[in-house]
Amino acid sequence: METHDHQQHSDRHDQHFYDSFLLVIGILVIFAIGAYWLATDIAEHDPGAYNRGGAVQEKLIDERLAPVGDVQVAGSAGALPPAPAAAPAAGASHAKAESGKQIWEGTCSACHATGMIGAPKIGDRAAWKPRLAEGLKTLESHALHGYKAMPPHGGNMSLSDQQVIAALEYMISQSGGAGLVHK
Ligand code: HEC
Repeated sequence: METHDHQQHSDRHDQHFYDSFLLVIGILVIFAIGAYWLATDIAEHDPGAYNRGGAVQEKLIDERLAPVGDVQVAGSAGALPPAPAAAPAAGASHAKAESGKQIWEGTCSACHATGMIGAPKIGDRAAWKPRLAEGLKTLESHALHGYKAMPPHGGNMSLSDQQVIAALEYMISQSGGAGLVHK
């Protein structure tokens, strides 16, 4: 009797095991079908790309193997890229303001951002007011040739006069002198 019970118990246990086993197999089969379906779907959207030796694959390989530069013979058609179109007049003043800002950040900000050694701070209208009253020509001359502790060209002699003036115009347009720059 005792062994019989044990036998029954064991059968139930096996049955449970096979049920679970079949369930797992079933899930794996469904998963495999799903993966196959997904792969075919992707391949259909990009035909050739996944076939070794396919036309698309060949082209991709050619592109990867292509030399970095081509030898161009002067005068041959298309040897030089077309010259960039001239900036439209409307955008020109904006571009200038941009580069003035960059020059200012690169050179003038060293003193004029913090007010170091008594430099009038950018945006400090009170500090700039009496200086703006001197007029643009004087300010330009002081920026180019120096003025007291202000070094000529802000100490950066690699800047052209035009660059110094662009930076100056940016600085004073930020400091209450916009009317002086954009007349
Ligand atoms: C090494 C620090 C320093 C740098 C860099 C510098 N400045 Fe100055 N700047 C000064 C000081 C200090 C003054 C104040 C001089 C004074 O009035 O005593 C000044 C004043 C000025 C003034 C006012 C002059 C006036 O007539 O009142 C202008 C304009 C000016 N700087 C433009 C520039 C421009 C543009 C640059 C960047 C190309 C620049 N500065 C970079 C220190 C500097």
